[in-house]
Amino acid sequence: MSQKIKKIAVLTSGGDSPGMNAAIRSVVRTCAYHTIECVGVYRGYEGLMEGDFKQLDARSVRGIINKGGTILKSARSKGFRTKEGRKQAHKRLMDAGVGGLVVIGGDGSFTGALIFNQEFGFPVMGIPGTIDNDIFGTSHTLGFDTALNTVVDAIDKIRDTASSHNRLFFIEVMGRDVGHIALNVGIAGGAEEILIPEEDLGLDRLVESLNKSRKSGKSSSIVVVAEGDKIGKNIFELKDYVDENMEDYDVRVSVLGHMQRGGAPSCFDRVLASRMGVKAVESMLNGQTNYMVGLLDNKMELTPLDNAIKGKTKINLELLRVSDIMST
Ligand code: F6P
Repeated sequence: MSQKIKKIAVLTSGGDSPGMNAAIRSVVRTCAYHTIECVGVYRGYEGLMEGDFKQLDARSVRGIINKGGTILKSARSKGFRTKEGRKQAHKRLMDAGVGGLVVIGGDGSFTGALIFNQEFGFPVMGIPGTIDNDIFGTSHTLGFDTALNTVVDAIDKIRDTASSHNRLFFIEVMGRDVGHIALNVGIAGGAEEILIPEEDLGLDRLVESLNKSRKSGKSSSIVVVAEGDKIGKNIFELKDYVDENMEDYDVRVSVLGHMQRGGAPSCFDRVLASRMGVKAVESMLNGQTNYMVGLLDNKMELTPLDNAIKGKTKINLELLRVSDIMST
């Protein structure tokens, strides 16, 4: 292993996700394993510009693999979008003797990392951390699996009350641009319909489908709606529409919100985070830079950051079909 880099910095940026702590732990311990130093940067790029760094050794990340959130805190930085801000961040890193930066975050955070690299030639490596699973170059982002389990648990609970009262529930889940969470939890939670940004079902078909369910003997229903769905109405307008157009229905809305981002990471996310941290650090030590670490066919693979940012994840069409058949 060529070891020109003697010190690596790690930060978490953008929306937090379960598994970020496990990834920080992995980066720190992989550095310790290869006897290089590691510094944690607080509050993402904000802390990078301010030099808010803390030396981390193997023992300083004990007891965090099972914790949600991020011990390094996260932020969405406006300052780092400016050339002046990035210049300041570069000086901080140089002054601290840091030779490489691992960024745990989503595509916005990776865009910042790539621009930083292009401007200063500073080695960067991305670890995809977001519950949305909307990053090209990995089948799973950190936190996606945990969020799915959190949401399914919530849907199961809502179903109990829905069936006791013969009600229809619209449940909103996260996913600004993609429907990965909605599609998976919709199937796992036994939803009648799943509304996702990738597919415009249309109001008429929604009403038709709900009427069909009622006629087939179903007394309660769950409709899962991704927050960025394309049906053209927000979830409360959807409720009003169904209230007005379907007399027999008693409709309620539940917006799950940020609880989906919290909680202890699943076993899958802990293992994924541990693997990604090792791959990120060892790739940098091998001289590879400007990549994102991802899981493809159960192997750790590198995707150029540029492709990870520009590429789009695709919805699994087979899942759409399965969901249609399951709601028969
Ligand atoms: O990107 C992850 C995500 O949780 C999205 O699903 C959601 O739209 C957004 O972050 C919410 O962000 P904020 O932290 O700004 O409320």
